[in-house]
Amino acid sequence: MSEPVVLGIESSCDETGVALVRGTTLLGDSLASSVDEHVRFGGVVPEVASRAHLEAIIPTIERACDDAGLTLADVDAVAVTAGPGLAGALMVGVSAAKAVAWALDKPLYGVNHLCAHVCADVLDHGPLPEPTMALLVSGGHTDLLIVRDIASDVTSLGRTIDDAAGEAYDKVARVLGVPYPGGPHLDRLAQQGDPTAIRFPRGLTSARDMEKHRFDFSFSGLKTAVVRWVQERERDGLDVPLADVAASFSAAVADVLTRKAIDACEHHGIKDLQIGGGVTANTQLRTMAEERCAAAGISLRVPRIRLCTDNGAMVAALGAQVVARGLTPSSLDLGTDSSLPV
Ligand code: KG4
Ligand code: ZN
Repeated sequence: MSEPVVLGIESSCDETGVALVRGTTLLGDSLASSVDEHVRFGGVVPEVASRAHLEAIIPTIERACDDAGLTLADVDAVAVTAGPGLAGALMVGVSAAKAVAWALDKPLYGVNHLCAHVCADVLDHGPLPEPTMALLVSGGHTDLLIVRDIASDVTSLGRTIDDAAGEAYDKVARVLGVPYPGGPHLDRLAQQGDPTAIRFPRGLTSARDMEKHRFDFSFSGLKTAVVRWVQERERDGLDVPLADVAASFSAAVADVLTRKAIDACEHHGIKDLQIGGGVTANTQLRTMAEERCAAAGISLRVPRIRLCTDNGAMVAALGAQVVARGLTPSSLDLGTDSSLPV
C-alpha cells in the first residue's frame, strides 16, 4: 500500500497555506497572504488576518487539491497548525481542518507550528538526521530546538527573551523609513553597504549573560542601539548612511544567530544544523551560516525560501511524519493554543 496522502492547513499568522504531501513528497500546494492588508499598519493586525483567512481558506484548499491533481476524496489524514500563533487566525484553520476530517471521516492531527517549520526541510532534503539542531528565525519566533524525533521528541534549548529576529528587522525598518515587512527591503539595502561600518551590540553574548542565557537571544537592545545611532546623526545634522546601517545591523543579527547555533551544536555534540523561518531568506545570514558551519564541520540544511516562510506544506509534511509514527489522532474538539510549547 502506498503512503497516506496528508492534507496540511496553516493559518497561524497572515498566511493561509494548504498542501498535500505523501511521505516526504510535496504533491501540491497553495498559498494566500493578507500581508498587503497589514502594510499600512506596519505589522499584522489579528482581526484583519482572521477575516482574510476566513475568505481564503476554502479556495486555498481547492487550489491545493487542483495543484496536486487530486480531490479531497484522495486525502487519508488532515493535519493543522494548532499553535502557537494568533488565536483568531488559528481558529479558522482548525475549524476548516475539523470540517474536512469530519466530512471525509479521516483522522485529524493538530500539530505545532515551530515543529512544522523544521519539518518543511524533509520535503527538500529527505528525513532529518537524528538528532538535528534547528534554528527557527521568523517574524514571530527565534528558537533553538533539539530535534530527536520530529514527530514526538523536540525540545526547546533557547529562544528570544524579547523581540524575534524578524520583528527586529521590521522595527528597525520602520525607524529608517523602509516599508513593512522590513526584512527583504533592509536585505537589499544592506547589499550596497559595509557590514563593518558601525559596530552594533550583540545581545546576550557577554560572559555574564552567557552564564544564564547561553542559547537565548535578545534583539531589543540592538534595535534601540540602531535607533539611537540614527537619531544622534540626525540631531548633529549629518546624513544617515542607510545602506551601512542596514548592513551593520544585519551583520549583528546574523553574527549572533550563527554563533549561538553553532555553539549549541558543539555543546550538544550535534553535527547537523537546520535553519528555517522567513529570516532565513537573509543574504548575510545564509552566507555566514554556510561559512561558519563549513569551518566547524557542521552540515547545514536550509530548504528553499518558499518552504522557510509560513506555508501549508510544512504542516502536511509534519502530519505525514506523525501518521507514519502511528501517533494518536486529535479529537474533533481539538482546541487552539496561541502559546503552544513544542
Ligand atoms: O516566517 P515568516 O514568513 O512569518 C512569520 O513571522 O511566521 O517570517 C516573516 C519575517 C518578517 O519579519 C520579515 O521581515 C522577515 O521574515 N524577512 C527577512 C527577509 N525576508 C523576510 N528578514 C531579513 N532578511 C530577509 N531577506
Ligand atoms: Zn512561522
